[in-house]
Amino acid sequence: MYHASKQRYEQMQYNRCGKSGLMLPAVSLGLWHNFGDLSDFENMKAMCFTAFDNGITHFDLANNYGPEPGSAESNFGRILAEDLTMFRDELIISTKAGYGMWPGPYGDWGSRKYLIASIDQSLKRMGLDYVDIFYHHRMDPNTPLEETMGALHQIVLSGKALYVGISNYDGPTMERAAAILEDLKCPFVINQNSYNIFNRTIEHNGLKAAASQAGKGIICFSPLAQGMLTNRYIDGIPEDSRIKTSGVFLQEKQVYENLDKIKKLNALAQQRGESLAQLALKWVMKDSDITSVLIGASKPEQILDNLKILEGAGLSAEELKLIDEIAL
Ligand SMILES: NC(=O)c1ccc[n+]([C@@H]2O[C@H](COP(=O)([O-])OP(=O)(O)OC[C@H]3O[C@@H](n4cnc5c(N)ncnc54)[C@H](OP(=O)(O)O)[C@@H]3O)[C@@H](O)[C@H]2O)c1
Repeated sequence: MYHASKQRYEQMQYNRCGKSGLMLPAVSLGLWHNFGDLSDFENMKAMCFTAFDNGITHFDLANNYGPEPGSAESNFGRILAEDLTMFRDELIISTKAGYGMWPGPYGDWGSRKYLIASIDQSLKRMGLDYVDIFYHHRMDPNTPLEETMGALHQIVLSGKALYVGISNYDGPTMERAAAILEDLKCPFVINQNSYNIFNRTIEHNGLKAAASQAGKGIICFSPLAQGMLTNRYIDGIPEDSRIKTSGVFLQEKQVYENLDKIKKLNALAQQRGESLAQLALKWVMKDSDITSVLIGASKPEQILDNLKILEGAGLSAEELKLIDEIAL
């Protein structure tokens, strides 16, 4: 039986999510990979317990996380039921809908039909009455934004989510969504976007500036570029790495294209006496616009390594400049 650490709130830093009342841990854990039915259940449990024991109160899911799609929510639901039910009020659990989930025209994108059916399915898989944050997962160019935002609002009104967020939106579309949700008095608090040393899209598409201006939080996914910004691939492609075990979203070609940069960034991290993962996470958290880094992990030790960003100095202006020279 799991006994949560009594020291779990001693090290973590909690950041306010934009101008809302919600505080999120500086490091959050995502269940996109390594929580599907092909992964080891005991390892999933160990990762959730390591996270919670160290103050990671936020667990991020989506309807389609697996494989099979839905299985990450089912496995997390089992962990909740077996060991974490008593901590429900200490947890921020998020899920999303927006990518293809079931066949036919009602299991993808951003219709009211899809979102409202999907939240019901997600709650059932996780054994929950509500999630803390429900996201629309990606922009839908063919559904009126009013319809998608109206569906998020209805999900809150029906008690199935406490807050809403949007993911993979750009700045101008986020501003339009925020205005609609403001009119509805819907608690839109957070944006979820990719952001790391190699991927700075949110600096160019207006999202980072617009979110800050609107008083909304930003949680950054793939802050380690799916493992490229770690020591994982410096000496080759390990058999237990994401590239070998999944190989869909991250491929060997990307590693080889970036290997020279990865090695130089690793040398800089070593000079600072930290891992490349820690340097990469500190880079994402370099300014106060960012609420939380949303990491993934395949083992509990990686979570512990990443939590060391809570210690030690941040990056100096000189180091940030050097990182730009290496990465850009
Ligand atoms: N909204 C969206 O569209 C969207 C899209 C993608 C992700 N997300 C969310 O963001 C979360 C994180 O994404 P991600 O998994 O791509 O994040 P990431 O943190 O960039 O990559 C995680 C991977 O990096 C490696 N790693 C982590 N810590 C390490 C360490 N200290 N040392 C060495 N290797 C380390 C592991 O690779 P190995 O597995 O190879 O060991 C791990 O699986 C997801 O779970 C999901 O919740 C959202």
